[in-house]
Amino acid sequence: MSALDNICSPSKEALKNAARILQAGELVAFPTETVYGLGADASNDNATAKIFEAKGRPSFNPLIVHVPDIETARKYVRFNARAENLAALFWPGALTMVLPRNEECPISRLASAGLPTLAVRVPANPLARDLLLEVGRPIAAPSANPSGQISPTQAIHVANGLKDKVKLILDGGTCKIGVESTVIGFSEDEVILLRPGGVTKEQLQAACGKVTMSAPDSKITSPGMLLSHYAPSCPVRLNADDKKEGEAYLGFGPETDLISTINLSASGDLTEATANLFSSLHLLDEEGFASIAVAPIPEIGLGVAINDRLRRAAAPREKQEG
Ligand code: TXA
Ligand code: MG
Repeated sequence: MSALDNICSPSKEALKNAARILQAGELVAFPTETVYGLGADASNDNATAKIFEAKGRPSFNPLIVHVPDIETARKYVRFNARAENLAALFWPGALTMVLPRNEECPISRLASAGLPTLAVRVPANPLARDLLLEVGRPIAAPSANPSGQISPTQAIHVANGLKDKVKLILDGGTCKIGVESTVIGFSEDEVILLRPGGVTKEQLQAACGKVTMSAPDSKITSPGMLLSHYAPSCPVRLNADDKKEGEAYLGFGPETDLISTINLSASGDLTEATANLFSSLHLLDEEGFASIAVAPIPEIGLGVAINDRLRRAAAPREKQEG
């Protein structure tokens, strides 16, 4: 069987089948509005362990648990007032909150990687929501790519990356947002941005005042944020305003259009550039260029998440993570 045979177009029957596979403790990849997730029943230790195995993900990197609504999330974690407010504003959507586990939390400890906290998210993608309702269990899901590589925004990316390590891939087309969710944690009086993503820092600040960036190599607050990640097989050169021999050029904005191999957004639109980021890296990676040069991207709004992913794609490769 080829990897592509695992891709399944969405139908009632396909959803029922996907739910049965998850309930049986196997892995299913599914679309969210951010990227495709590699899902497992988060209340099942064996199933959750299979995620780490399939991705080659270090076990110290905890997973996000997906639930259909805040009421379900309350069964697993304790909300503070700011988290309640942010959930009301941004869920369903691209925001993940790291909160203390309840005493009787039935979610596998593996999903928390031994921490006393759990990352929870209510996704907005209709197929992801239908799957959560059909399966009736919390789904642990990191991005559905081998650890350290480019995240998937199309079913074909998942099939090419994970091959037969995933039982079924629900095809929901291209992910709307195109980068992962924003991950936040809470201190006594602050919201801490652990990973920039689909919800911008500016949006969070408008909702709750001060938002502090966590240190980029802070293993304690967010163990998943090690340096090399989202990496194509060739080197990546950032803030480039020219293209060298043998290089591909990933452009941004009208002034880069002439030298662009692919332009993330010819009009300089950050939302469009975000949606095109990972699929462009996948395409250029397949073309076998010597390296990929990337235009400067403004460090505002979604540009913060784009630059975060690009810096990690360009980072030295010794330490990869998922
Ligand atoms: O958009 C997304 O968030 C996608 C889709 C599938 O939902 N998922 C995703 O998961 O990107 P993953 O595993 O690739 O990234 C999870 C991030 C990691 O940086 C991890 O370290 C952090 O969330 N994280 C998870 N649990 C945590 C915890 N208890 N404390 C601190 N950071 C945590
Ligand atoms: Mg990931």
